Amino acid sequence: MLAFLCCVVFLVYAFHRLTIAKTKSSTCLVGKTAIVTGANSGIGYQTVLNLASRGCRVIMADVCDLTQSRNNVIKYTNNTNIVAKKLDLASLQSIRDFASEVAKTESRLDILVNNAGISASKSNRTEDGLNPVMQINYFGHFLLTHLLIDLLKKSSSRIVFTSSFMSFFHNLTLKNLNYDATPDDSITALRIYCNSKLAQMIASDIFASKLRGTGVTSNSVNPGIVRTTLLGQFFSVQTKLKPLRLFTDLYLRFMAKDPWEGSQVIVHCAVSKRLEGVSGKYFWDCMSAFKPSLAKDEEFCRKFWEKSEKFVKLAPEERL
Ligand SMILES: NC(=O)c1ccc[n+]([C@@H]2O[C@H](COP(=O)([O-])OP(=O)(O)OC[C@H]3O[C@@H](n4cnc5c(N)ncnc54)[C@H](OP(=O)(O)O)[C@@H]3O)[C@@H](O)[C@H]2O)c1
Repeated sequence: MLAFLCCVVFLVYAFHRLTIAKTKSSTCLVGKTAIVTGANSGIGYQTVLNLASRGCRVIMADVCDLTQSRNNVIKYTNNTNIVAKKLDLASLQSIRDFASEVAKTESRLDILVNNAGISASKSNRTEDGLNPVMQINYFGHFLLTHLLIDLLKKSSSRIVFTSSFMSFFHNLTLKNLNYDATPDDSITALRIYCNSKLAQMIASDIFASKLRGTGVTSNSVNPGIVRTTLLGQFFSVQTKLKPLRLFTDLYLRFMAKDPWEGSQVIVHCAVSKRLEGVSGKYFWDCMSAFKPSLAKDEEFCRKFWEKSEKFVKLAPEERL
């Protein structure tokens, strides 16, 4: 029995390690500008390091103080063209302030990585009356992308949404898009995270179709299971699940990707020459993958988009 279990664990481990894709692209990004949200840690930070090492001007956007991580990026890449800007996706006003500052200081935007995310929140509503997980992961990026569209259209830009394989476990409907119910149980909390990841994927697809012909592409990605603080944050909110922590910590320690490996699919979508003009796809380990069936329901997606426009209070002239 023990031998059988060891075999299974080894096979899962081997499959996992062998399917980790690394981008083969050596694209130089000198003269290009990128924004990465959630740039302070984890997958976002590794994405910044990769783009910066290609000579890109990178605007690191995050809710916390970025001084230390910006200094580290400059130290490790020798690229001093790195800007740190405060962006709190839990506040629609902060997103608007960030976007208008970027519009003033930047003449181009080649890459937008909508990456910031949380797995759970203790509070049920942000100051904008939105569910915090939905707002930080999805609504905030939906608004941010709209506000940066004019800049993105100036070059053949790429938008990348960091979605997740967890999107397959959603229970998203038009009614629970802003999840009215208090997330009083762990399953509901997990569902909200899954919904936010599916919402990102659907938004990416619709941006792709609305931006067809402009040169701007949009794709979503699954970075895989990555050793970051995201899962720990879920347990710190959902304390009832703490007994599971040892198991997940072991999994993260021995099986999960490290943040650099997790960032590869994002970088691939952001820079690979092979993906020129490719839009509306979902990538998993640098390969195009299938999506949850709801993402293909055109009627649902149309209404979902219209509701999102209302939730983030988009002015008519800001709509696509
Ligand atoms: N880790 C995984 O296994 C996994 C799997 C699939 C998808 N993803 C996705 O990958 C993305 C990055 O997650 P990660 O694993 O790298 O986790 P992480 O290390 O916790 O990074 C998340 C980043 O988002 C920032 N952030 C949190 N709230 C914010 C807000 N209100 N406004 C702006 N930025 C905010 C965090 O800032 P602080 O540093 O201040 O916390 C942090 O830098 C997320 O969208 C996540 O859903 C992760």
